[in-house]
Amino acid sequence: MNSSIEQFISGIPKAELHLHIEGTFEPELMFEIAKRNNKELKYSSVQELQQAYNFNNLQEFLDIYYEGANVLITEQDFYDLTWAYLEQIHRQNVVHTEIFFDPQTHTDRGISFDTVIKGIHAALEDGKNKLGISYRLIMSFLRHLDEASAFKTLEQALPYKEWIVAVGLDSSEVGNPPSKFERVFAKAREEGFLTVAHAGEEGPADYIWEAIDLLDITRIDHGNRCLDDPKLVQKLVEQQIPLTLCPLSNLELCVINDLKEHPVVEMMEKNLLVTVNSDDPAYFGGYMNENYLGIARALNMSKKQITQLAKNSFTASLLSDQEKTKHIEKIEAYYNSQPEMA
Ligand code: ADE
Ligand code: ZN
Repeated sequence: MNSSIEQFISGIPKAELHLHIEGTFEPELMFEIAKRNNKELKYSSVQELQQAYNFNNLQEFLDIYYEGANVLITEQDFYDLTWAYLEQIHRQNVVHTEIFFDPQTHTDRGISFDTVIKGIHAALEDGKNKLGISYRLIMSFLRHLDEASAFKTLEQALPYKEWIVAVGLDSSEVGNPPSKFERVFAKAREEGFLTVAHAGEEGPADYIWEAIDLLDITRIDHGNRCLDDPKLVQKLVEQQIPLTLCPLSNLELCVINDLKEHPVVEMMEKNLLVTVNSDDPAYFGGYMNENYLGIARALNMSKKQITQLAKNSFTASLLSDQEKTKHIEKIEAYYNSQPEMA
């Protein structure tokens, strides 16, 4: 008997490669932390807050996302935020996660870099030891802020080089091209960090070119707009530069109007190395399994295609080749163990 696609998705081992830890802040935890820190939220209840989650574009989301992050003050707060996310993905068979944190969101309001990173890192270590979830930590620069602020943040990160594997670029895309941060990224690479960048979410395909040519990125976050430029698609395919797609995010931020329009299958057919991720799951209605299930249903995807996406998630990860192989073999065994495959 065919087991359902939902069960199949929930059981398959997955890696998450595009996740903003501040975007996992569930309303209940936000109110709890606000209360213990004597911080006022703009909204009087969880319901009222959730009613505000009705976005027409990236900026409308970012305004609420930064507002929510304002109540995070102590190392314990950052620990609790991260731990809640890890418990959630553990239930979803996510066995490896590469998460972003946005230090400037916190340092700009007087919270020290050390407080932020120590809380997040302690939870990630506990997740590794108690839940068996491996991780990488990526520090993102807010692209709506200036180069000087990014340089200052990079300086603050240097004592934590062992904990941070890569730098990224997020926040308001249009009008803030990768070229604005060319020098910061050059310095980051000199210091030994890998680089990734959000590009082609709302911004044009040219921003993806810039991220490749000027920032020397290992992965593109989102990258939807690459489809506007056949030469760019060819480049991404030839070099197997991964794209970290986020279907529910795209839907909630009106990058697409319907999941049926999501380009993931078209991209797979073009041999782009695409992965599925949750971006800001507390705001966009779902974690990894909901993202996989959303596209599987909307695009009538097969178990084989879902399996390919799960394999891609490890191929595109920052794990060692040996670790990638181990995970991919487990996925193949899982696929072959399905009753209808026997
Ligand atoms: N920060 C958090 N989520 C983001 C997204 N989807 N795009 C850009 N910046 C972000
Ligand atoms: Zn993102």
